[in-house]
Amino acid sequence: MCGIVGYIGKREAAPLILESLRKLEYRGYDSAGIAVINEGRVSVRRCEGKLKNLETLLDRDPMIGSIGIGHTRWATHGRPSETNAHPHRAGDVVVVHNGIIENYLDLKEQLTQRGTKFSSETDTEIVAHLVAEKVERRMDFLEAVRKSLREIHGSYALLFLNQRDPKRLIVAKNSTPIVVGWGDGEAFIASDIPALLDYTRKVTFLEDGEVGEVSVDSFRLYNGNGKSIQRPFKEITWDAVAARKGGYRHFMLKEIHEQPRAVADTFRGRISLKDGEVSLEDIHLTANQVKQIKRVHLVACGTAWHACLVGKFMLEEIAHIPAEVDYGSEFRYRSPLMDPRSVLLMVSQSGETADTLAAVEIARQKKAKVLSICNVVDSSIPRKSDGVLYTHAGPEISVASTKAFTTQLTALYLLAIALGRRNGNLSRPQAKKLLGDLMHLSHWMEEALKLESEVESLARDLTHSPDFLYLGRGINYPIALEGALKLKEISYIHAEGYPAGEMKHGPIALIDETMPVVVLLPRDRYFQKTLGNLKEVESRGGKIMILTDEEKLPSDIPSFGVLTVPKASHFLTPMVLSVPLQLMAYYIAVHRGTDVDQPRNLAKSVTVE
Ligand code: AGP
Repeated sequence: MCGIVGYIGKREAAPLILESLRKLEYRGYDSAGIAVINEGRVSVRRCEGKLKNLETLLDRDPMIGSIGIGHTRWATHGRPSETNAHPHRAGDVVVVHNGIIENYLDLKEQLTQRGTKFSSETDTEIVAHLVAEKVERRMDFLEAVRKSLREIHGSYALLFLNQRDPKRLIVAKNSTPIVVGWGDGEAFIASDIPALLDYTRKVTFLEDGEVGEVSVDSFRLYNGNGKSIQRPFKEITWDAVAARKGGYRHFMLKEIHEQPRAVADTFRGRISLKDGEVSLEDIHLTANQVKQIKRVHLVACGTAWHACLVGKFMLEEIAHIPAEVDYGSEFRYRSPLMDPRSVLLMVSQSGETADTLAAVEIARQKKAKVLSICNVVDSSIPRKSDGVLYTHAGPEISVASTKAFTTQLTALYLLAIALGRRNGNLSRPQAKKLLGDLMHLSHWMEEALKLESEVESLARDLTHSPDFLYLGRGINYPIALEGALKLKEISYIHAEGYPAGEMKHGPIALIDETMPVVVLLPRDRYFQKTLGNLKEVESRGGKIMILTDEEKLPSDIPSFGVLTVPKASHFLTPMVLSVPLQLMAYYIAVHRGTDVDQPRNLAKSVTVE
């Protein structure tokens, strides 16, 4: 998730663009850049690192001109560096992009065959070349963009300027937000509202498939078929803080709602439904190397550790590779049995968790391969890994991990399929089925999000409960653990997750009418067993809340609440069940008045032991 901005008007563009980029740094901040046209010539400045590095550059050598575009990056393809920073230029055309071009490798191959040379590792540079080669053939700028978009598959918010045509900016949108703000004889373009609020509250939102032409005195908008569209302005009433949260009350709620997009961005561009294959980009393992893998040691902390527990099921059941899971803080002080046929797989949102990072030393001593799944490109854990599979969740601001968790599960699912195909334990038809299931995931999660109002009213009745018990089985037992962790870390209520079958070995002594018991009851292989556990709770007066995917539960099941999510495939049910549990923790915390985004005693990244 990156931040893009543009300006065209009568004022100097560079200072306005920098100020707007500052407002979007929460969307990404590992590199930044700006392009401005002055007297028919475009100049581009880019910097690795925080935006202030770009500001220093411009202080030393200001850019003049009243039309420009800018970008603050959250790297997905290509590590953070000056060459990978946006804007990207090809000939007279300069572009900034937020999103993921799924077919960028095919397009890169085609362009290379036409003699194009590339200077970056990004998917975005491809787009600049596609448009530039048409503009060089004297095609109209807008037409060149529209024709190029027909070759592109994926998510994008794109903003172009053209040295040959300095009176307009071209903007395009597909499943990634972009908005145009209107001033007096000037226009502002941005990924998100915060970048515009200092200048205007009169905006036009683009919809998927649309292309717009922005000049100081006109705005033309076209749909995917080239038909002109008239769209009325909207007046923005949010304040700046609310705008950064996209109008949500907390970043946590915004990030819960971002999950359908985040999981889709995590698998976009990495799968071939036709071939039943998964490309792992930065993880280079030959089929023979995968066949040699004796065991995968998953190491993580907190929510990421819960993801690893689900990942164990995926690796063992999909790829038939033995897997074990450790807390980072435990792994670093034990003597794991590892050798060159072992793989250490670290999972971390921040890529900076000290207890997780410590595992590398042990793996290196045992000559094991080191892999990681991470959300922050080029952070410490990926830098120390032999290979990395990045989640594309975008920056996760709230301390409580939500979209990072479900994108970690998505990445583990992709990894299991890729390894299963390489070691021959997963047939092509089986892989195609698993990848086909993935195409439904965002929809299933969108449907689960529709439970929000039901969850909020249920949460109201639970706000003062002193303790919670979460029960789950099999691949969903870790989701019971995650639901409990979400609740305790933001509402400060004690909560425990337990395997439902383990209740009779102790926790059942806790059951009474004051303790809500949240039972994960998907119609899976454990359904009847879990139903039995549920009855044990009920016979002791427990307050039961059921989370199920079964429309028709037996009528004699007592509960004070039933939440029904869509029926998902076995391996993707954990992602879907996570959503209502995240919402429940959120609304209980809101009702209790805690600091949801920055809970007491917690840090977003625990970089110390
Ligand atoms: C989860 O909501 C917490 N924020 C915490 O448990 C977190 O998952 C843990 O500290 C690991 O962080 P990482 O994913 O950045 O390594």
